[in-house]
Amino acid sequence: MKLPILAFGHPTLRKIAQPITSEYKDLPQLIADMYETMYASKGVGLAAPQIGKSIRLFIVDTTPFIKDHPEETEFMQVFINATITETSGEEWIFNEGCLSVPELREDVSRKSNIHIEYEDENFNVRSEDFGGLRARVIQHEYDHLEGVLFVDRVSALKKMLIKRRLSEISKGLITADYKMIFPFQKKH
Ligand code: NI
Repeated sequence: MKLPILAFGHPTLRKIAQPITSEYKDLPQLIADMYETMYASKGVGLAAPQIGKSIRLFIVDTTPFIKDHPEETEFMQVFINATITETSGEEWIFNEGCLSVPELREDVSRKSNIHIEYEDENFNVRSEDFGGLRARVIQHEYDHLEGVLFVDRVSALKKMLIKRRLSEISKGLITADYKMIFPFQKKH
């Protein structure tokens, strides 16, 4: 089942998400629904707060990048209770977008490499290093668990320039080709 995505301005996007255990109700279904939602909206990552659940869960599938970045290989992964324990390497800029902030893309600078500890969908503990676009997407999704959005990471000038656009998004004065919940939409 496709789930509606919370738009910029929704308070759940600003909460610190909470850890979960393997007892979490209907988790396999939730993960399946998140994948369905992400693919339908052509995202490469989706964090649970974006579908209204303030829990430390996000999914990634960077496979669509292969088209423009032939050096990439297929990669999909569920991250539960993740902690990025180290970031390293050079800062590099990539033009990011977010399903909660439709039709807006901005250059964001992030470190190239991360070390992350997490549990997979079967709650196996994993400890891995990632670089390149995988590290990029993982850092973006991880930010969602901390209540941070990519638009928080742009320059003060850029923030000023996109302020009005963000306000329009929160009011639903935009079109997205997937179902969204707009926190400040006027009811008719
Ligand atoms: Ni996002």
